[in-house]
Amino acid sequence: MKEVKVFAPATVANVACGFDVLGFCLDTIGDEMVVRQVVKKGVVITKCMGYVLPMATEQNVAGVAAQAFVNDFDPELGIEIEIYKYIKPGSGIGSSAASAAGVVVALNELLGKPYNREQLTTFAMKGEAVASKCEHADNLAPAIYGGFTLVKSCHPVKVLEIPTPADLFATIIHPQIEIKTADSRAVLPKKIPLDLAIEQWANLGSLIHALHTSNYDLIADSLNDVVIEPYRSTLIPHYKEVKTAVLHTGALGCGISGSGPSIFALCKGKKMALEIEQKMIDVYIPTGIDFETHVSGINHQGIKILNS
Ligand code: HSE
Repeated sequence: MKEVKVFAPATVANVACGFDVLGFCLDTIGDEMVVRQVVKKGVVITKCMGYVLPMATEQNVAGVAAQAFVNDFDPELGIEIEIYKYIKPGSGIGSSAASAAGVVVALNELLGKPYNREQLTTFAMKGEAVASKCEHADNLAPAIYGGFTLVKSCHPVKVLEIPTPADLFATIIHPQIEIKTADSRAVLPKKIPLDLAIEQWANLGSLIHALHTSNYDLIADSLNDVVIEPYRSTLIPHYKEVKTAVLHTGALGCGISGSGPSIFALCKGKKMALEIEQKMIDVYIPTGIDFETHVSGINHQGIKILNS
């Protein structure tokens, strides 16, 4: 195969109580990428459509991730990359992770699958670090593995696949403002009080248990973020109104998607997810701020090869 085209999905990281470790994969929004073998050695980005991003390999998330792969594998031929971005950078739904994960999965397919998913995540983290100034994999892992994932460690990469209850749907509102991950991380405290840490890890443990047991009430009771949300929610216009409206309507929980500004809700059933979408729209229309909404099931497959 000389060329591989992939769908690289958006993802929701943190999922309220799982900062930097928990994430899930969406299936109704994502980028497309093409990687191609060419005679001249090296990694070159030949096209980037949708949003303006650096074309220089060493400044581009996909370029850096691809270079990390190529440095290790050392293929005989060179690599060209085309990026078709549909996920706005700085949206909070894993735009950089889609680029980094998409390119390494596509390269792996192109070159005969030499690496496993942990190794691919390790290469992709190098690209993700270009955007967020630190290596973490909570958006990358759900894009590469699909479903819900828990990143047990980054060095070395260890990822746990968490089961998804059958009726779980996500609703996202994406206010069309950009919050750079690095900026959103900069507002966070370096240390947190022990009582908040205890509450947060109790919620994360119970959320993981609830996902394993399809216990929707416990999911609802666990989707709380007492550590990160107080700092980041101030960066997101009308965050509290959205959260209040969707919880009142019947969402299981609501929180900041990744580093924001997108806000996610988890819902039992598609009907509820669509109702929640309408509530989000009702809050945002009077504000005059442009926004997009998405309703999605949980994508169990992750990145999809489109031309196999
Ligand atoms: N866990 C990351 C954060 C996700 O919240 O900063 C965004 O890259």
